[in-house]
Amino acid sequence: MKIIAGNWKMYPKSLSEAKDIARRIAIAARKYPGVRTVICPPFPFISAIRSSGKTLLIGAQDVFWEEEGARTGEISPAMLRSVGASFVIVGHSERRALGESDRDVAKKAALAMKSGLSVILCVGEKERDTAGAYFAEVRDELFASLEGIPRSFAKKLIVAYEPIWAIGAKARRPATVEDFREMRIHIKKHLVEQFGKAAGFRVPILYGGSVDERNAAGFLREGEADGLLIGRVSLDAEKLAAVISLAGGRTRTT
Ligand code: PGA
Repeated sequence: MKIIAGNWKMYPKSLSEAKDIARRIAIAARKYPGVRTVICPPFPFISAIRSSGKTLLIGAQDVFWEEEGARTGEISPAMLRSVGASFVIVGHSERRALGESDRDVAKKAALAMKSGLSVILCVGEKERDTAGAYFAEVRDELFASLEGIPRSFAKKLIVAYEPIWAIGAKARRPATVEDFREMRIHIKKHLVEQFGKAAGFRVPILYGGSVDERNAAGFLREGEADGLLIGRVSLDAEKLAAVISLAGGRTRTT
């Protein structure tokens, strides 16, 4: 089952706009029950955009690593679950750029999984060099971000490969399908090393970074991505619907 996850970042400006976009995405998601569609709105909108049946699921964009406490501004996994979230993005490069370390990411991922949330862990290199040092960079980030996470949690893990140079409005270009394919194999190898063959192999691997309705099919088919993590385009309900339908292939029910 393909996973199409939308990371709304710090958009849109109002709850009414957020509800409107979510409503339109839910209509598309309902047509493709064979696709796991997840939207990750900003925290204040989560409870209003309840999961719509089994086809539209809700995630958060971050979470804290403690269950409760005197932690001004932080949000626990249990709070997220209580307002209807079942997914959380952890270690997005935009949060890492604000100072989040691999250790922080590992603590967040561990508690979120323990609390029953599915974790979309983001990894990706800053730059690509011709010697291939980015493979080691991604491997080190993956290992450090998963440090101490037991094999039994692997079923709650999803890894999103998001090369930083391919993300956002300043991206130079999306990664190519070939860039993704080789990194997918690399990531899978290290997941198998950490969690064992059966558990490691089952972890879905998504591509993220300048995905749109034109390049999505390439990643999903030739790239063999288990899904996509989409920023800008996930706020455009029509374009996201087009991606969901590509991921759904022939499973359309209406
Ligand atoms: P983008 O963002 O699709 O706007 O490049 C992807 C992401 O940051 O998850």
